[in-house]
Amino acid sequence: MCGIIGILGRDPVVGKLVASLKRLEYRGYDSAGVATLEGLRIECRRAEGKLRNLEEQLRHCPPAGQSGIGHTRWATHGKPTEGNAHPHATESVAVVHNGIIENFRELRAELERNGADFKSETDTEVVPHLVESYLKNGYSPQDAVQASLPRLRGAFALTFLFKGHDDLLIGACKASPLAVGHGNGEVYLGSDAIALAPLTDTITYLEDGDCAVLTRTTCVIYGTGGSVVQRETSKSVVSSLLADKANYRHFMAKEIHEQPTVAGKTLTHYLDVAAKRVAMPMALPFDFNSIQRISIIACGTASYAGHIAKYWFERLARLSVEIDVASEFRYREAPLRRGDLAIVISQSGETADTLAALRYAKDQGLHTISVVNVATSTIARESESVLPTLAGPEIGVASTKAFICQLMVLAVLAVTAGKERGKLSKIDESNLVRELIEVPRLIAAALLAEPQIEKLAHLMADARAAIYLGRGTSAPLAFEAALKLKEISYIHSEGYAAGELKHGPIALIDEAIPVVVIAPYDRVFDKTVSNMQEVAARGGKIILITDAKGASEAAVDTLVTIVLPTMVATFAPMVYAIPVQLLAYHTAVARGADVDQPRNLAKSVTVE
Ligand code: G6P
Repeated sequence: MCGIIGILGRDPVVGKLVASLKRLEYRGYDSAGVATLEGLRIECRRAEGKLRNLEEQLRHCPPAGQSGIGHTRWATHGKPTEGNAHPHATESVAVVHNGIIENFRELRAELERNGADFKSETDTEVVPHLVESYLKNGYSPQDAVQASLPRLRGAFALTFLFKGHDDLLIGACKASPLAVGHGNGEVYLGSDAIALAPLTDTITYLEDGDCAVLTRTTCVIYGTGGSVVQRETSKSVVSSLLADKANYRHFMAKEIHEQPTVAGKTLTHYLDVAAKRVAMPMALPFDFNSIQRISIIACGTASYAGHIAKYWFERLARLSVEIDVASEFRYREAPLRRGDLAIVISQSGETADTLAALRYAKDQGLHTISVVNVATSTIARESESVLPTLAGPEIGVASTKAFICQLMVLAVLAVTAGKERGKLSKIDESNLVRELIEVPRLIAAALLAEPQIEKLAHLMADARAAIYLGRGTSAPLAFEAALKLKEISYIHSEGYAAGELKHGPIALIDEAIPVVVIAPYDRVFDKTVSNMQEVAARGGKIILITDAKGASEAAVDTLVTIVLPTMVATFAPMVYAIPVQLLAYHTAVARGADVDQPRNLAKSVTVE
């Protein structure tokens, strides 16, 4: 799973390859490499670790060549070593790949029997060897690729560079995105419009099974059957500027602090603020009265936004909601009713599991809405309706501002559903809209707790493990809080519905495990306090996140109490998310972890 780029340029190409790889690091960053054509030779350079290691190597001795391919990797098969880094090359062809070749073992055995010499542990390396075997039998590069593609099982976006063919780049994809970029006397292939943005805004997205044969002046696309197909070319609006950290130490810190602004921006896109009404920017292609059940499907943080939204849809619109992690949705054969609604949530809009779930939902006859942050993404393009989150580019791997904006959009959608289904009166609607309008200000107020949380983080940094508890909408927020902490600080943490504590997790409680309790003063507050008592009775160290009323009513000894502004409870998760994000961030910083690019993770996971 990875980012790929290919360029047929008019100048030495290595600088542009690296610049594009920088924009693709969100797809993986455990190793990187480039290959260029130097005269008749393929020159391959690869480095283990972050892209800066490759940059360093290239700075000392940049390869020449006006044609090249590049790759940034997130390891699936084979450790993240230089030897497993892409491009993988044989005598005549170099390849970069995103996806998984599922039948690589059979292919490798067959190719080895015929004398191929494999150098890596990757699934990818079968591809250049396979193509090479056809080249050796006299096939042209194009024919060799087209003969190889039907033999590959799995998902792939591939880009090929051929020795001795300075004006040829071939790209192919199946269940993994690949886009052609059209420049002025130059042509490009890339994982997405984001990678291509500094090079061109004129993009052709390839479709499943396509194979594009490119020269600097021509682009011919062949469909699955091998005949020439036409694909639409469009103008991308992705910014060519790379996001910067402003004055923050990490992107994550910057993104946490942007939340009042982006929450407000997203909100005004979906509300008529003056009239205190919800106002979808476009008509939805169904009536909420015809929907019996919503399936919400997402991965990671986006799925926790979905869990929270389930409470809103059920309470405000009296609509039942099933929530699935995308990797399970299509395999559990849930009975789905044609005409019902699937909502897929994804920051990147490229997560392979979520995309596959979206396609499955469409095949089952469901209406599909996507809540996505990258408007040009595959999920946005393929869903029936798109509700953009206006968080702006999110670079830190741990999702923060995209999560808040997902919640905003889902909250507005739940109110819209409630109104349409006659479950909310006009007064209810305007009260809820008033509450939503308050949220950006409340987020800004919650950010003021940062100095207190930074101090607390120094204690948290020594913890062996941590537990997060909450009830109602605070329960899924506890799951998200635990994910945030574990992914960037590497402290094992789990979130539980507070009532579940007594059914097992309570066995973990001792003086060494901080227990973070998320408890706004709401209708389940007393119940949560009882669970907190159970923790205190066993010597657990409690960190309570609540409001002024909650702090005065809790009557439990806490290690620290973080007091947030008082608010109506319905949309509290958008405000209570702030301290848990800050706690994860400062704990990771205190532990010296790589906050923006934590080990083993990628911002966008494009393999199943
Ligand atoms: C990865 C990221 C998570 C993210 C998840 C879903 O695992 O590390 O932060 O929540 O993918 O990503 P998406 O782009 O679909 O929201």
